[in-house]
Amino acid sequence: MCGIVGYVGKKQCLPILINGLRRLEYRGYDSAGVAILSDGKFNRTRAVGKIDCLADKLKGQTMSGTVGIAHTRWATHGGVTEANAHPHAACDDNLVLAHNGIIENYRELKEKFLQGHEFKSETDTEVLAHLIEAHYKGDLRLAVEQALAHVHGTYGLVVMHMNEPEKIVAARMGSPLVVGVGDGEYYIGSDTSPMLAHTKQVIFLDDGEVAEITPDQLKMFTLQDEKVTKCVENIEWDDEQAQKQGFPHFMLKEIFDQPRSLEDALRGRYDLAEGEAHLGGLNMTPEQMRQVKRVVLLACGTAYYAGLAGKYAFERLADLPTEVDVASEFRYRDPIVDDRTLVFGISQSGETADTLAALREAKRKGAQVRGIVNVIGSTIARETGGGTYIHAGPELAVASSKAYTNMVAILLLYALQFGRLKRVSAATGKRLLDALLEIPGKMKSILEKSDEIKKIAEKYQGARDFMFLGRGINYPVALEGSLKLKEITYIHSEAYPGGELKHGPISMLSPEFPIFALMTQNQLYDKMRSNVQEARARQAKVILVATEGDESVKEIADDVIFVPPTMELLEPLLNTLPLQLFAYHMAVALGCDVDRPRNLAKSVTVE
Ligand code: F6R
Repeated sequence: MCGIVGYVGKKQCLPILINGLRRLEYRGYDSAGVAILSDGKFNRTRAVGKIDCLADKLKGQTMSGTVGIAHTRWATHGGVTEANAHPHAACDDNLVLAHNGIIENYRELKEKFLQGHEFKSETDTEVLAHLIEAHYKGDLRLAVEQALAHVHGTYGLVVMHMNEPEKIVAARMGSPLVVGVGDGEYYIGSDTSPMLAHTKQVIFLDDGEVAEITPDQLKMFTLQDEKVTKCVENIEWDDEQAQKQGFPHFMLKEIFDQPRSLEDALRGRYDLAEGEAHLGGLNMTPEQMRQVKRVVLLACGTAYYAGLAGKYAFERLADLPTEVDVASEFRYRDPIVDDRTLVFGISQSGETADTLAALREAKRKGAQVRGIVNVIGSTIARETGGGTYIHAGPELAVASSKAYTNMVAILLLYALQFGRLKRVSAATGKRLLDALLEIPGKMKSILEKSDEIKKIAEKYQGARDFMFLGRGINYPVALEGSLKLKEITYIHSEAYPGGELKHGPISMLSPEFPIFALMTQNQLYDKMRSNVQEARARQAKVILVATEGDESVKEIADDVIFVPPTMELLEPLLNTLPLQLFAYHMAVALGCDVDRPRNLAKSVTVE
């Protein structure tokens, strides 16, 4: 996602800013920009595309100056254009600002405070620049604090004003910011990677804090302008570790990102009072939505398993017959679709060749096609021309984790959006949304069990086969858990619906062939319990994911991982996490290359 770099000191800052942006490239972005105060005015250059495009544009420009800010943008509000790239300027170019996060009430702010201001972009960020300008009376820090008092949303921001030429003001709420401390200079970044080549002494801003930075001094305040004292910390990470934010692997970082990335997926996309979701990218009127008679979800791998979980929501909430198809199969069948069939292509990368080809096939046959995609501007996002970004942020580990949970969440919101036009009442919709909003907190409580799950993984590291079992909505979870284990540990594993065990696979079970069963308290709990007992009777070792408080499960399990209760349709959002952690810790225990498993690629652009 977006990245911020800033510098205040005595050195020429352009190379520092451009190199800093390059350190942030791993986050993913689609445009970049820089603003430096030189010769009494802001020199601002922005470009769509890679940082090299920005660097090319800067060639031949004299952009001297020792104070500046820079940004990489991952489009959210407004398309990928130069005008929408940061830094943004206020009306008379006396103030420039770069921002990560989302200003939720930017429309209200425009109406209430910014009549007469001239806007040059479609972004929420530009509103922030004008809002600070409107509050400016000679003290940039005070203007920032006063402006932010009106803002709802998340931000990590850096801002400069021409009247205070040697100063950057930075503020944080929900979007990280770090200040690197040098000798007569300060570096600012949305993480430590842009500054690690220069200093390892850093100060992390907390939510609700504002930093006023000049070459000789860093002063910290609350948003209410009370002074704050912060400690300088010493960072021992190298560059790669910095991108991992202290986690040993990208995969673990991304597993731990999930509470936050889920919030990003949901933000601004529901109305609690009305119990409804509104994902604008569908581009359909309520009347057109009522015409849809069938839904087809097309995807590969983990995205396919997210689709399988979404099917339950579409059928239960939206009353729509829903098929989920492996894209590489769909494209070579003779699929029956028409203009009343709504087809979603689900893809993290947005580049998967099979999913793309399947969507083209569906479109050719007259279906309405939309994307559920993570990477902004990717081919599937562009070709479908409609749909929704899942906002999981860059996913760098080959094995997908946070993209899966965000895909499931978006499918739930779509199902609710359709359901509210049919038999789902506002009260039912609200109950679902309330439960959904509790999920990030519940995810955190599961992530706290990482060490406990590590011990379980280490206990079973000698096993060469695993069987994952689930029923109903937990069956796709079992499939996803099995895929995670096999792709990063190379251990053979299978996933079955619990009821299928006795129709064949039970013959494989033995004390050396453990089962991993999802036995949370939903409508199929008793059935699943019987299936676990069948496996146990064949001396198979049993690991269970069960609902907190259900102590009775200990009688039939060797190991139990408890998860908080939630609504059945939301269970994949929680129950998948212990399986991701189990696979991860098993891979580490076996010495596997967790982030780059053999034979696999992150983006599968070939058939
Ligand atoms: C598994 C995994 C793959 C992808 C699949 C589809 O961890 O990452 O199974 O889910 O290759 O990729 P996308 O979602 O990019 O279309």
